[in-house]
Amino acid sequence: MTPLADKNACELLDADHIAVKHLFVEYARLAAVSPGAAGADRAAIAMRICDELTVHAQIEEEIFYPALQRAMPDAGDLLQEARAEHQQAKEMIARIQAMDAADAAMDALVAELNRAIEHHVKEERDELFPKARTAPGLDLDALGSQLRSRQQELQAESSAPA
Ligand SMILES: [Fe+2]
Ligand SMILES: [Fe+2]
Repeated sequence: MTPLADKNACELLDADHIAVKHLFVEYARLAAVSPGAAGADRAAIAMRICDELTVHAQIEEEIFYPALQRAMPDAGDLLQEARAEHQQAKEMIARIQAMDAADAAMDALVAELNRAIEHHVKEERDELFPKARTAPGLDLDALGSQLRSRQQELQAESSAPA
């Protein structure tokens, strides 16, 4: 396995995709096993999903998408669609964060967010990343370290006491 510090941009972002997928699976498992129970655990997982996706979307929007835009002028439509999907996800995330208990409404919204993220991640994996890997002049290793340091900065901010 590639150590975290050596991941290029696509590997780093895909590691995030996999990590958040595991959280969605864990949420669904708890929701299915004991509806009405394990509410605090589910709510905690839902908040982690929201935090991780927020940081992930932000580093893509600040660093990854603009770099792709510069290196691949013909990727404009794909990137515009990706940004619109981020916007939709953020609206769902805000609704989940406003809920104070893991009930059926939260279960439904987390499942909806899971489906939306699955679709978005598939497009990044199948369309954006392959283009990025062959784009002339795009240094995915350098981008990977930029993404990682910004990610660490944002994670430190979100875990700091308010
Ligand atoms: Fe994205
Ligand atoms: Fe992504």
